[in-house]
Amino acid sequence: MERRITEHPILGTIEKGRKVSFTYDGKTVEGYEGEPVAEALKALGVMVHRYTTKKHRPRGIFCAIGRCTDCVMVVDGVPNTRTCITSVREGMTVETQVGVVPASQVKDTVLKGGIMA
Ligand code: FES
Repeated sequence: MERRITEHPILGTIEKGRKVSFTYDGKTVEGYEGEPVAEALKALGVMVHRYTTKKHRPRGIFCAIGRCTDCVMVVDGVPNTRTCITSVREGMTVETQVGVVPASQVKDTVLKGGIMA
């Protein structure tokens, strides 16, 4: 089953670019150039983009039009990047965000061994 968004209520019909590789939490994955990062991740089955700072609650796509902050991730080292309005590019790095840092830098054993395991 295709998980990609093909019709968007605001953006209209989504055009696919060429297939490119990028890194998601250290793994090489593929998406279509120009599609939103959130869409490429959704197609891969990734629904959690970040964890809140205090209660470690998972967040993912909510508005999908750049109005909330639920989809933010660390993209090319820049935290708080709205992935629903950031286009996939060849070689970019995308990391799950915990608070305002990449999950890979989190030393909290609750996150490492529980919520994010
Ligand atoms: S899902 Fe709301 S800003 Fe991206």
